[in-house]
Amino acid sequence: MELPTALRQGVDSLLEKVPLPALKQAARTLSERYRAELRDGRLHMGEDMAVKAYLATRLPATYAAVRACLDALADARPDFQPKSLLDIGAGPGTMLWATADTWPELERAVLVEASAAVRKVGQSLAAGAIAARASWVAGDATIDLDGLDPADLISVAYVLDEIAPASLPKLVDRLWRLTADTLLIVEPGTPAGWQRILAARRQLIEAGAHVSAPCPHEAPCPLAPPDWCHFSRRVARSRLHRLAKDADVPWEDEKFIYLAASRLPAPARASRVIAPPKGGSGKVVLKLCQPNGHAGERLSSKRDGELFKAARRADWGDTLG
Ligand SMILES: C[S@@+](CC[C@H](N)C(=O)[O-])C[C@H]1O[C@@H](n2cnc3c(N)ncnc32)[C@H](O)[C@@H]1O
Repeated sequence: MELPTALRQGVDSLLEKVPLPALKQAARTLSERYRAELRDGRLHMGEDMAVKAYLATRLPATYAAVRACLDALADARPDFQPKSLLDIGAGPGTMLWATADTWPELERAVLVEASAAVRKVGQSLAAGAIAARASWVAGDATIDLDGLDPADLISVAYVLDEIAPASLPKLVDRLWRLTADTLLIVEPGTPAGWQRILAARRQLIEAGAHVSAPCPHEAPCPLAPPDWCHFSRRVARSRLHRLAKDADVPWEDEKFIYLAASRLPAPARASRVIAPPKGGSGKVVLKLCQPNGHAGERLSSKRDGELFKAARRADWGDTLG
């Protein structure tokens, strides 16, 4: 999944004259802070060079993950065509670009972002390039959500890991109250990210939400540690990304986990592939999460005819009718 052309060009021009040693240092610091899930009262993207490091090393991956989540939501809810978006912890506008790409009819967006440095970059990237009317709001999402209007789609991507765990239930509650149709939460595909999604999932189902994706049910999650639910997208690394990270491989696999919680139930439910398919000659094994709330592996072979053909086409994260 590539960045939209206008976004890639905007990012390229912002990164054009950045000195490589400073970018490398900022990328290292950013990556260490994310890996440690550091919450020391400072924003990871508080400074200009950290924002540039994010654009070079993280934006393509978070964009790919978020876009995949929106695709899954659009598949599950073909009737859903959001006109309004409220994105929390917007960063450089990742969700705005991905939503406008998925639903070009998007009319307006409000983007809440605590860091002035990244807000400025997000604003300048979107100005004139995104048709929807976008307003950027400064503020801390854990205290400053009063006065915001409800939106068809509310999103919070790669943000919960930066917020004190004790503040999360109240934040989720506030976001759900503002949700006219669907609340989308995206987190890194780590066991800790999955646990945050599970807690939000329990809370939202208790509040009456229907899960549109990825789970095809509202039963308790059938997976147990050390297993965890997550998905993956392969993302090409730009030349600058490789240089900034001293990376040899021209791609990376972005692991993510998400939850799309909706006011309305999905019209139909299908099993979801929750691990990379395993194949052999004439057979394929898919690990499926099923509408009956159970998860497990299913073997299909040539003898299964159409079922086998569908299973062979299915990839990790897809649904299977
Ligand atoms: C990892 S970035 C994700 C950006 C974007 N959502 C994406 O997926 O690329 C997290 C963003 O959330 C912002 N953030 C963290 N805590 C916040 C809070 N309490 N209120 C508002 N923004 C916050 C950070 O400044 C940062 O820009």
